[in-house]
Amino acid sequence: MNKLSIEDLKLQGKTVLMRVDFNVPQNADGSVRDDRRIQEALKSINYVCEKGGKLILMSHLGRPKAGEDNTKYKMDPIAAHLATLVKSKVTKVDEVVGPAVEAAVAALQSGDILVLENTRFHPGETKNDPELSKQLAALGDIYISDAFGTVHRAHASTEGITHFIGQSAAGFLVAREMAYFGRVLSDPDRPLVAILGGAKVSDKITVIENLLNLVDTLIIGGGMAYTFMKAQGHEIGNSLLDAAGLDTAKNIMAIAREKGVELLLPTDNVVADAFSNDAQWKVVPLGGIEPGWEGLDIGPETLARFSEVITKAHTVVWNGPVGVFEMENFAKGTRGIAELLAAHPEITSIIGGGDSAAAVKQFGLDEKMSHVSTGGGASLEMLEGKILPGLAALTDK
Ligand code: 3PG
Repeated sequence: MNKLSIEDLKLQGKTVLMRVDFNVPQNADGSVRDDRRIQEALKSINYVCEKGGKLILMSHLGRPKAGEDNTKYKMDPIAAHLATLVKSKVTKVDEVVGPAVEAAVAALQSGDILVLENTRFHPGETKNDPELSKQLAALGDIYISDAFGTVHRAHASTEGITHFIGQSAAGFLVAREMAYFGRVLSDPDRPLVAILGGAKVSDKITVIENLLNLVDTLIIGGGMAYTFMKAQGHEIGNSLLDAAGLDTAKNIMAIAREKGVELLLPTDNVVADAFSNDAQWKVVPLGGIEPGWEGLDIGPETLARFSEVITKAHTVVWNGPVGVFEMENFAKGTRGIAELLAAHPEITSIIGGGDSAAAVKQFGLDEKMSHVSTGGGASLEMLEGKILPGLAALTDK
């Protein structure tokens, strides 16, 4: 990594602005339902506090809308949850910038934490407004990004701020994410296998195109696979079809042939007569999906074929479940792949954020993966080979 890292910084007595991604799932009463993103940022948070820094945490939460009641997006329950996880004194302020924030910053002692209000409550945040960026930067001495889930956004607290502050460094979480994805993109331990799922071909087109330049084998499962099957001339019944993606699918298969990349698609599927766990279901071979039935998972033959390739891999990057894992009857394919990776710790397994991360967690196998990303959109854009603004903006070493 050629960016400044948290360990390169002198933090004693400094006021540190750290962007974290505390955009976490909440219960109806606002309490935190899944605190993985908070837990993953604790290493950087504790490090700054232990080194004698005064820490200001900035995060967005959800997508508040101007003119609406956005009370549910306030950072209070998140700050309260954080306070249960750290030794430091945690206070929370109801503004993003302004006199109340300045007073709260002035009251900070070394090792204290101040949580700002949801950065998206300020209209300048998503516009990457230089005025807001300047005001945020003026609150502290140093900027640290530990918000991997948000580094694909060029917002005031993720990108703009870096133009108005001395040093901008990667926190431990961001450095770890960059190291795993950077390795896949530049110098992977081969064979490199990518597993892609998800609903629409059109959503994943850029990532597929980029992966075809990198991988030895590309495995396609999930809702997207039915568009590929249709493009090959097979009947798919009521399965998900991305009609606009049919030509793209044909094109992708042609590019894979040209580049000598092995492209694996399901050869059997679990089909159901309704999109429900209680629906009737059966396993059918390729081309055997009748009208009125829809494919909701890969079949056992496909899982066996995919598994054979996966076990020979040295690196596996996985983005998107291969079936409707939320329904037990259609979770076998996704669970099978997760269990296989868990049983082979010698394979470097990198799990994209979002649904794939949720799946491995649901199976209780997240700890067994080499790396489970905290960023859904960000990890996808990383695999697309895009330059992510929140990373590009950090100070070069
Ligand atoms: C996420 O949950 O993917 C990140 O926090 C980014 O959120 P956003 O898509 O609203 O920018």
